Amino acid sequence: MEQRIAVIGAGTMGSGIAHVAALHGYQVYMIDEKPGVVQTARVRIHQRLDREVEKGRLTPSEREAVMDRLIEATWDHVADAELAIEAVLEIMEVKKAVFQTLDRVLGPEAVLATNTSSLSITEIATTTRRPQNVVGLHFFNPAPVMKLVEIVRGEETSDDTVQRVQTFATSINKEAVVVQKDTPGFIVNRVLMPLFIEAMRIYEEGIASKEDIDKAIKLGLNHPMGPLTLADLTGLDVDLNVMDYLFQEFHDDRFAAPMVLRRLVRAGKLGRKTGKGFYNYDGV
Ligand SMILES: NC(=O)c1ccc[n+]([C@@H]2O[C@H](COP(=O)([O-])OP(=O)(O)OC[C@H]3O[C@@H](n4cnc5c(N)ncnc54)[C@H](O)[C@@H]3O)[C@@H](O)[C@H]2O)c1
Repeated sequence: MEQRIAVIGAGTMGSGIAHVAALHGYQVYMIDEKPGVVQTARVRIHQRLDREVEKGRLTPSEREAVMDRLIEATWDHVADAELAIEAVLEIMEVKKAVFQTLDRVLGPEAVLATNTSSLSITEIATTTRRPQNVVGLHFFNPAPVMKLVEIVRGEETSDDTVQRVQTFATSINKEAVVVQKDTPGFIVNRVLMPLFIEAMRIYEEGIASKEDIDKAIKLGLNHPMGPLTLADLTGLDVDLNVMDYLFQEFHDDRFAAPMVLRRLVRAGKLGRKTGKGFYNYDGV
């Protein structure tokens, strides 16, 4: 089993992935290109662990052991990592540059995983000399809490690589599903985006209030939160990017972003990042 992992990018997802891996005994090398980001992530993880200690789920010495396993690193330190998980910006060229570096600095057996929400695993893998070891490992936010990971096969991903990340997912107490073909949106976003779009269209057409749309889906489909609340939470700019990407790839109106969403994003009402989105915003 892998012992050491590298997490590239220490933002929302990278810090959550590092947290959950260190909690389950992995030594985690954390890299971020921006100075201070890894320290900030470590402070946040410490605060989350403090709450676990207060609830009696962790002892203070366990908390310190987890923190000791979270190591701020540079590319020079990560050569012995058996698994790398990339969680940098959702921009193909940025990810390709990271994978080129990972391919250069990590041992030939190491698995290189990407947490991309939508980009092609196959295309990312082309920048490496080991496409058979490249795989999608898609966590959900917040990574320490959400049970699911989508394991996504690129064209050349080997069975052994899928098996290794499946074992890793189980070892950090996640449930994995395997997406057998490298397709845009994988499973969850491909189902979620049409749900968001239809809820937004119902709102846009004045068919029901946003509160009633969310209430209907919560109580009628037994979802823990309504689609407009969830869209705010994931970030409206992120949602719009994913829809535009799926539309471009599938050429299918199921993924055509509603105008109300575009207007909110243009107005800088981005949901999670601004505290304003479908909720707290009246001027649409
Ligand atoms: N936020 C979500 O809900 C969510 C859920 C699942 C997957 N994802 C995916 O995870 C990835 C990260 O998303 P996020 O929300 O954590 O973004 P974020 O902006 O919070 O964090 C990205 C981090 O990567 C760093 N970074 C950028 N370029 C880098 C480089 N070349 N080398 C090292 N560090 C670099 C940035 O400084 C930043 O700290 C994206 O691919 C996104 O699509 C996000």
